[in-house]
Amino acid sequence: MNVNREPIRVALLGCGTVGTEVLRLLQDQPEEFAARTGAPMQVTGVAVRRPDKHPEVPPGLLTADASALVDGDVDVVVELIGGIEPARSLLLRALRSGKSVVTANKALLAEHGSELYAAADEAGVDIYFEAAVAGAIPLLRPLRESLAGDRIHRVMGIVNGTTNYILSEMDATGAGYAETLDEAGRLGYAEADPTADVDGFDAASKAAILASLAFHTRVTASDVHREGISGVTPGDLAAARQLDRTVKLLSICERVVDEDGGESVSARVHPAMIPSTHPLARVGDAYNAVFVEAEAAGELMFYGRGAGGAPTASAVLGDLVAVARNRVVGGRGPRESAHAKLPVQPMGKTPTRYHVSLDVADKPGVLSQVASTFTDHEVSISVVRQQGRGADASLVVVTHTAADEALRSTVESVARLPVVRDVVSVMRVEGEPS
Ligand code: HSE
Repeated sequence: MNVNREPIRVALLGCGTVGTEVLRLLQDQPEEFAARTGAPMQVTGVAVRRPDKHPEVPPGLLTADASALVDGDVDVVVELIGGIEPARSLLLRALRSGKSVVTANKALLAEHGSELYAAADEAGVDIYFEAAVAGAIPLLRPLRESLAGDRIHRVMGIVNGTTNYILSEMDATGAGYAETLDEAGRLGYAEADPTADVDGFDAASKAAILASLAFHTRVTASDVHREGISGVTPGDLAAARQLDRTVKLLSICERVVDEDGGESVSARVHPAMIPSTHPLARVGDAYNAVFVEAEAAGELMFYGRGAGGAPTASAVLGDLVAVARNRVVGGRGPRESAHAKLPVQPMGKTPTRYHVSLDVADKPGVLSQVASTFTDHEVSISVVRQQGRGADASLVVVTHTAADEALRSTVESVARLPVVRDVVSVMRVEGEPS
């Protein structure tokens, strides 16, 4: 390939752990990038809030004026600032002036993606964002390109490493949530303010991006039903183990087809029990993994590091090379497609399954009272397991699929039965036939 053409000029916005790695890798092997891209890549500037705090960046590149950098002679803007503003305004400005964009900003894409994609379309430039979901794992490009000819039924994944670490530790040690979160903070797995991770905001933004790509429909973070992990107890994990299951925080994006063939999208984040034999059950530590079910391709699994400087930089650089190549040949990558416009289903109407673990009185008629409460709500039972313990018994009920609101109200009614001493665990069940 001829690399004697004008350089592709790259502006870097933000230089934290990811930006530092992006810069280092770009500067370590310029000939390699030039050969892969078809033109040399030249970093024209690095915008940071405090230029005096970045001794690792050549001083001539540093600036505190991100707007001026974006407005300058630049072909591609790489945004690694995070958050909504000023990232949104800077990227709109870049796109509207014909610059391509590479971003890792999941929160921005999950809320304002359509505005950014429209600006890219109008200007005929690229916006790539592989690093926004599951760090190093090539996932968005497979959904956007490799599977573009297939029909995706489901994307279900562990896309938050912090919560996966906490749940894996709770399972391994038997410790409670608060104690394990503290430990995760001490070891550097959890942020000082862990809210975005543990309350599922991070995973919900990623679910919105995944659902949009998988179902060619605009799904925003506010469309995603979200429950975090702070309510998961050692009792839940023990109940899961008893049925050879484990608990994971899952981002689930699903094509739901009703009895009349009408389609909608369910996008949700919540803890769920999955069978120990499911490929996602073996994903431990802070790893991410995403399981995709498609009509023709069948089941696919994507696994790897979902965070960290170098892994995320790998995804950013892959996008940068792709965007630069497109500019060299004068084309564009795939556009966002939201043509399907499927409605997003409210959680209450979404078909789910529940695992309910109860402490009940061990006397005649208890099982039938509990079972008939499920029947009253038209919820069908799949598995019942009872074990006597003196005057009490432990009763586990796993349901067939029903509307989530029906399952929820069934559990409320069961909890009010005088024979039920305690509702030990209520958890949705995923990853197995209904
Ligand atoms: N905080 C995220 C995680 C990584 O724990 O996976 C960035 O999205």
